[in-house]
This record gives sequence, structure tokens and C-alpha cells, in this order.
Amino acid sequence: MKQLALLGAGGHGKVVADIALVSGWDGVSFFDDAWPERSKNGPWAVVGNGAMLIARLREFQGVIVSIGDCAIRWSKHLEIRATGGELVSVVHPSATISRYASLVVGSVVMAGVVVNVDCHIGQAAIINTGATIDHDCWLADGVHICPGAHLSGNIRVGHYSTVGVGVAVKQGITIGNQATIGAGAVVVNHVDDGVIVVGNPARKLR
Ligand SMILES: CC(C)(COP(=O)(O)OP(=O)(O)OC[C@H]1O[C@@H](n2cnc3c(N)ncnc32)[C@H](O)[C@@H]1OP(=O)(O)O)[C@@H](O)C(=O)NCCC(=O)NCCS
Repeated sequence: MKQLALLGAGGHGKVVADIALVSGWDGVSFFDDAWPERSKNGPWAVVGNGAMLIARLREFQGVIVSIGDCAIRWSKHLEIRATGGELVSVVHPSATISRYASLVVGSVVMAGVVVNVDCHIGQAAIINTGATIDHDCWLADGVHICPGAHLSGNIRVGHYSTVGVGVAVKQGITIGNQATIGAGAVVVNHVDDGVIVVGNPARKLR
């Protein structure tokens, strides 16, 4: 029986659990620092907090951090990695990932995603429902590509950056570290580290 532990019992965690159960995992257990106040996450029980997960890691064949916030997800991912936990990625069966793309541990790829040839997706990334990543894109650790975002070819997305729902990014663009692309933006110029951009064409909000 393959059992997956998930750290982070929110809405995003529910989607990750649902994907795990249609992609080869037999059972899922949620852990969250809001336990015991948070005792349920949709149809699943929350069975302990983060420290309890670390104490029980050997009971699970895999573990994934299912927290939407990129910086928190990355720091929890590092914590678990340091304990030797078996970090895994979870991929929905309807996602299409080129055999010539690489997906590193701790990431989730949701339903309907397409990742094309020669792409790299780092650790602890979220490639959310229906997003497309075209050829030669390089996505750093901890990124979140939100539902329905479309990245053309040869795009770089830096550490813990978020590309919002429904965004389109022109080919060859570099998005810096910890940047945020607002929902629905059309990105035609490079985006610096730490900047939030919105609109069409995307311009700096702050
Ligand atoms: C861009 C974003 C991060 C800004 O959030 P914020 O800092 O809280 O900004 P505010 O809501 O205070 O809005 C500030 C201004 O930017 C505008 N704005 C906010 N988001 C915008 C967007 N996506 N496109 C265009 N304008 C936007 C607001 O209308 C407001 O304009 P005003 O000052 O003229 O009234 C956020 O709105 C956003 O789009 N996040 C991505 C959400 C997403 O994709 N979620 C998917 C989860 S799976």
C-alpha cells in the first residue's frame, strides 16, 4: 500500500490529494500546523501537525508539501528534505509531459497541463490546472504557474515566482525571482526580481 503524506491541509492540498489518488497512491494523510483546530480537509482527516509528520516520515512512501504560498512551500520542502523524507512529485494522468522535459521532486502537475520538450521544472513547483509550458522553458524551484496560464517557448521563471491565472507570456521572456504576474496579464517585457506586474501589456504595479 503506497501512502502519501501531505503537509498543508487547505484547498490546494485537497487538489493534490485528489490527484494522488488517481495517479497510483493508495491513501493520503494530511498534516497541518493548524491541527487540531483544523481536523478535516474536504473528505480527508487531518491527523497531525508538521512536527508529527517529521516524526512519522518512515510510515509513508512519499511526502509532498501542499501549501499554495510559494515561499512557505519552499521553506517546508527544505525542512522535510533535511530530515531525509522521500519527497515526491504528483502528476495528474491527463497531464502531458514531454519525455524530454525534466520534473524535479516535490512538484505537482494538475489536470490538463502540457509541458513540452526540453523544459525544466524545479523542486516544489505547482503547475496548476490547464497551464501550458512550451518548449525550452526553465522554471526554478518553488514557482507557481496558476490555472490556465500559458508560457510560450524559451521563458525563464525565477525562484518562488507566481504566474497568475490566465496569464500569457511572450516567448523568450525572463521573469525574475519572487516576482508576481497578476491574473490575466500579458507579459511582453522582462520582469525584475520581486516586482508585481499587471495588465495588457503587463506593467509594474509595485
Ligand atoms: C496582482 C495582485 C498580486 C495584486 O494584489 P494586491 O497587491 O492585493 O492588489 P490590490 O487588489 O490591492 O489592487 C491594487 C490595484 O491593482 C489592480 N489590480 C489588481 N490585480 C490586478 C490584475 N490582475 N490585473 C489588473 N489590475 C489589477 C487593482 O484594481 C487596484 O487598482 P486601483 O489601485 O486602481 O484600484 C493580485 O490582484 C493578483 O492578480 N494575484 C494573482 C491571483 C491569481 O492568479 N490567483 C490564482 C490562484 S490559483
